[in-house]
Amino acid sequence: MEVLGYVVGETTVSRAVFVSKSTPRRGQYVELFYDGKNVLGMVQGLIHGSVSLTEDIHDASVVEKIKSLEKGADRYLKGVVTILGDVETLRVPDVPPPPGTEVYRARRSTLSKIFGEDLGRTGRGVRLGVLISDSSVPVYLDVNRMVSRHLAILAVTGAGKSNTVAVLAERIVGIGGCVVICDMHSEYADLSFSNGGKVHFLAPRMNPVNMSVAEMLRLLRIDRGAHKQERYFRKAWREALDAFRSSGSGELLELVRRNLERMLDEAPRGDRGSIQGVINKIEDFVDRYGDLIDYGLPDVVEQLRPRAANVLDLGSLDEEAADAVVSHYLRRILQARKDKARTGVGLDFPVFVFLEEAHILAPKDRQTLSKYWIGRIAREGRKFGVGMCLVSQRPKALDPDSLSQTNNKIILRLVEPSDLRYVQQASELLSEDLLQQLPSLNVGEAVVLGLMVKVPALVRIDGFAGHKGGGDPDIVSEWREGGVVEGGDEDLLEV
Ligand SMILES: Nc1ncnc2c1ncn2[C@@H]1O[C@H](COP(=O)(O)OP(=O)(O)OP(=O)(O)O)[C@@H](O)[C@H]1O
Ligand SMILES: [Mg+2]
Repeated sequence: MEVLGYVVGETTVSRAVFVSKSTPRRGQYVELFYDGKNVLGMVQGLIHGSVSLTEDIHDASVVEKIKSLEKGADRYLKGVVTILGDVETLRVPDVPPPPGTEVYRARRSTLSKIFGEDLGRTGRGVRLGVLISDSSVPVYLDVNRMVSRHLAILAVTGAGKSNTVAVLAERIVGIGGCVVICDMHSEYADLSFSNGGKVHFLAPRMNPVNMSVAEMLRLLRIDRGAHKQERYFRKAWREALDAFRSSGSGELLELVRRNLERMLDEAPRGDRGSIQGVINKIEDFVDRYGDLIDYGLPDVVEQLRPRAANVLDLGSLDEEAADAVVSHYLRRILQARKDKARTGVGLDFPVFVFLEEAHILAPKDRQTLSKYWIGRIAREGRKFGVGMCLVSQRPKALDPDSLSQTNNKIILRLVEPSDLRYVQQASELLSEDLLQQLPSLNVGEAVVLGLMVKVPALVRIDGFAGHKGGGDPDIVSEWREGGVVEGGDEDLLEV
């Protein structure tokens, strides 16, 4: 084993500083032997100092003089190690490492064991990437724990969130899983997998017959405070649904509209404005989304394919409508899994749902329908095999309750101090040292935390080998191909 250095100074059970013989690397793992145990640690900070070139020198010529005398001999490198625990149990020993303890470079065999070699072999894990500090060590995620304890993927724009989603989706499908991707910007419209896994595209159509009253109110943009409108809509909706169910045909929304028109004649004068308002909203809705309404569309449960990535393309909807559709999917998935547990009839397989742009679906400062169901899945999903992954480039705009209920986190580059603080508050496992790594990560590099890994890891995530649109666009080529470059302005003026 290679000795990297020796522990010096005061130590605690969770932290030690060592003087290093060579430059340790960020995120590097080390092994120490003390208290009769083989203990794993991670280098989370580096210090480069000089005994003679101290901060209280204020004169450059003094520095030059000292430099010419000491010739680098006074410099030192120290690594700050976080003690992660005994390599067998990952329990932190009760005593701190004694000064003088050797700090060894962690062996590949130790690391492979910790980062889930066995999960990969047994098909109970999916590979995410490799350790940044040692690219020969693959990192596997425990899928049971990822799905049952939920996940958040957070990073600035362009850092690699969607790439991570695609990699995970491909590999979960590869072990026979079912994922749903709520694709807010049609980024996955061309998704295909390199491992032959199935991709099933769900049209963003909706069947009003299967929607709840709350979902319809949101789709119609009937405000929460508009009590009269809501009351009339509920009544007209209920009656229309009864009529629809007994006849088994017709256009439900048209029936609702007719009911409202009848009420318009019968209602007190003071209520007519509200009823007319609801009629207008139904007409607006049909104008806007007429193409998307499909009375023949089966329930969500029948639309989802097992052993596949089910991509729900929401790119053509505005935010309110996307919220209603996503909420509808989340509600039906959770309910159908509960039905399955209770009665044996329902959704037959567990589902992992990726929610892109989660800060729109579950914002911090507004109530949305999806936020309610995200909260329900966060709390109840574990028991029924419904997991979710919140994906966001604006963590601080995300609902803090939803975020803190995701036990697992993949945090790629994150720069803004307010985002960093917010993420730290929502993740008890994110140490100050790891937090400081986040702004300097490269594209595709991440801090990975939670029950799905045995210890926190700095990971270089694999590039997605399949096909997916939505990468960084080549703007210059698009301009060139647009033909605006040659010919100059005159050409444009002629048109
Ligand atoms: N692990 C990786 N390996 C190789 N390339 C990567 C990796 N992660 C991301 N990239 C590349 O970086 C670019 C941006 O990645 P991606 O679209 O995943 O970012 P994003 O965080 O989802 O951005 P946005 O917030 O805009 O949705 C893409 O071209 C992608 O192919
Ligand atoms: Mg993205």
